[in-house]
Amino acid sequence: MKKHSIVIAGGGSTFTPGIVLMLLDNLDRLPIRQIKFYDNDEARQDIVADACEVIIKEKAPEINVVKTIDPKTAFTDVDFVMAHIRVGKYKMREMDEKIPLKYGVVGQETCGPGGMSYGMRSIGGVLELVDYMEKYSPDAWMLNYSNPAAIVAEATRKLRPNAKILNICDMPISIENLMAKILGLKSRKEMQVRYYGLNHFGWWTSITDQAGNDLMPVLKAHVKDNGYAVDFTDAGQHVDKSWQDTFKKVKDVYALAPDTLPNTYLKYYFYPQDEVEKTDPDYTRANQVMDGREKHVFTECKRIAENQSTEGSTLEIDEHASYIVDLARAIAYNTGERMLLIVENNGAISNFEPTAMVEVPCIVGKNGPEPLTQGEIPRFQKGLMEQQVAVEKLVVEAYAEGSYQKLWQALTLSRTVPNARVAKELLDELLEANKDFWPTLK
Ligand code: NAD
Ligand code: G6P
Ligand code: MN
Repeated sequence: MKKHSIVIAGGGSTFTPGIVLMLLDNLDRLPIRQIKFYDNDEARQDIVADACEVIIKEKAPEINVVKTIDPKTAFTDVDFVMAHIRVGKYKMREMDEKIPLKYGVVGQETCGPGGMSYGMRSIGGVLELVDYMEKYSPDAWMLNYSNPAAIVAEATRKLRPNAKILNICDMPISIENLMAKILGLKSRKEMQVRYYGLNHFGWWTSITDQAGNDLMPVLKAHVKDNGYAVDFTDAGQHVDKSWQDTFKKVKDVYALAPDTLPNTYLKYYFYPQDEVEKTDPDYTRANQVMDGREKHVFTECKRIAENQSTEGSTLEIDEHASYIVDLARAIAYNTGERMLLIVENNGAISNFEPTAMVEVPCIVGKNGPEPLTQGEIPRFQKGLMEQQVAVEKLVVEAYAEGSYQKLWQALTLSRTVPNARVAKELLDELLEANKDFWPTLK
């Protein structure tokens, strides 16, 4: 098997060590000759990449390691760009969450005004990565999980239509892991699913075992009373108490459309006031992550680099991230793996806008994804999705045209914002907070 060269963009991410450990654990499935770390914050990346270098030296010394903030060095001679950047870092995530909460509006990384604010920062960063990849390694593919994935995916569809970029989200993966637990299965791969929606905005319509037997009734009986709550001990990334509460809240989200099983993120659109009420406006998820995951990962990384050894390290393989290897393998070896991806609708949902970026199961091979048709969707979900996709498209238009008016429309249209006046006040405050990041709006 060919040995691959990979660049991790956003090398300083809290997820980088877990992903590197996962890649090293999967070398038999995806051989690697080189791993490069690329970030635009050298000091932050050094902390993570110095530790990763020690990890790689111990487990697979034959792999060449490169750490760089130079795009040419990073993007030359690579087969895959694994992208997880966060433009503005946690400081700006904190603003995205706290500013809306001042107005009694949901303050969330990817949903509502916070998601739009993050989107206006992220689009430029991801387009830049696409351009570097096309310039220095035109045959490479980008596996992108930089958020807000819905807005980023729409932006690349519109502004870089020929880019070899695959947008993927790990939320369905985590939920399917919980479903497998509820069902007593060894792996989510024992299930075959049908699903439709937008990113962080979708529903499972069918879950069967590989023999085609319906597993929905057992799952529904569980979700009706418990949401996706189950024994969370190895829930990996989504194990914090706030995540456990989210999985429990699915019970209320499910009740709206009990023919299907929902994505967790719908709670922000169905029950925004409940979310605002239980959020401490002075200590949001960004604070939890900075005091939790970031502190843990960075402390461990510094220790590993100092000792030049991983002995006693508590960094863990991000097992759930092995979907990234499945995706890379699908492209590299034309495996035809069936995976949920964010792709242009183009008829996959027959009664929905053809140019919408939707999340549906796809067969993935050497030449990219082939979406599977999901047919017609019901009025309730269609109405919600039309509103939300319009929000996402307006944000991208606002970015591309530098339009204040369109961003105001986007905020006003979001289910999470009560009226146009609040939308405008919020927009003005977000604009001020983002002046170093957003394009100029007229
Ligand atoms: P993080 O802040 O720890 O890491 C992001 C890194 O990106 C930082 O080191 C930062 O310096 C770097 N960066 C920012 N702008 C850059 C640019 N223009 N070029 C190069 N590097 C840049 O964040 P995190 O919590 O580890 O998350 C990383 C990303 O992954 C976020 O976008 C997050 O939303 C996303 N994520 C997505 C999924 C999914 O389901 N799609 C799951 C988990 C995380
Ligand atoms: C899930 C979502 C991601 C999101 C992450 C936030 O994995 O799919 O898109 O970035 O949750 O998790 P955090 O622990 O950073 O709040
Ligand atoms: Mn996601």
